[in-house]
Amino acid sequence: MILDGKKLSLKIRDQIKIETEILVKENNKQPHLVVILIGENPASQSYVRSKERACVKAGIKSTIIRKEKDIEEKELISVIEELNADDTVHGILLQLPIPKHINEDKVLNLIDPLKDVDGFHNINIAKLNKGQISLVPCTPLGITKIFDEYNIDATGKHCVIIGRSQIVGKPMAALMLKRNATITICHSKTKNIKEIAKQADILIVAIGRANMVDDSYVKPGVVVIDVGINRVDGKLTGDVAFDKVKEIASYITPVPGGVGPMTIACLLENTLTCFKKIEGN
Ligand code: GUN
Repeated sequence: MILDGKKLSLKIRDQIKIETEILVKENNKQPHLVVILIGENPASQSYVRSKERACVKAGIKSTIIRKEKDIEEKELISVIEELNADDTVHGILLQLPIPKHINEDKVLNLIDPLKDVDGFHNINIAKLNKGQISLVPCTPLGITKIFDEYNIDATGKHCVIIGRSQIVGKPMAALMLKRNATITICHSKTKNIKEIAKQADILIVAIGRANMVDDSYVKPGVVVIDVGINRVDGKLTGDVAFDKVKEIASYITPVPGGVGPMTIACLLENTLTCFKKIEGN
């Protein structure tokens, strides 16, 4: 069965639109997300445009601050400090990747943890790892919403995550642990990934290599979540060879139309979460 992230994301975005209208009336203030985009990475530009469109449709104010790729770290820091101090701003997102001359960890940790819509601040990561859910990175959060929508219970299941990034792999592991799964994280140095993947009841693939996971990586009945967004001959392709794996899996997310749209829906949700905390709702 195909896990339709596109359809679920539209449902969530409709709910967010309704909630935003109510919050605007109650607070006489509009939720406001600011995205900082550095340089001209085409994928980042496209993601940021999609985020902006989704905000506007939901009634959330969106501002994009564009900076040249040679921006000095101290200028970026003052942009972040101004946004932290601005009480009309509820969410701050620094689009990654950023240029190498800027210390990513340092600047991400200067974002006010209350406005950290990505959940990348050390405080929010620590909370997540303690099992306290507050601001959770959007992609893993979106994946848990797919599980909830399709009543996929992770309790006691072996969840294999391929990829150990800060954005997906690590927070995903924390969320699945909270859902009482048994977790294995595989990465570029893991030996025999295939054999480990084959033991998965739930397989989450976030490795960034088009079509890497094929039918030889999966056991019958597995739930497959494909986080990959790769461009092959101008076409979006996941990390999973969808046509080969869909015959074996019980559930599988397509690319496009699976995890990607859920990430955006969860960004809107996190923006409202920040708004409610900051405005005391
Ligand atoms: N680049 C790719 N994915 C993400 C994300 O979830 N957040 C940010 N800030 N940058 C990204």
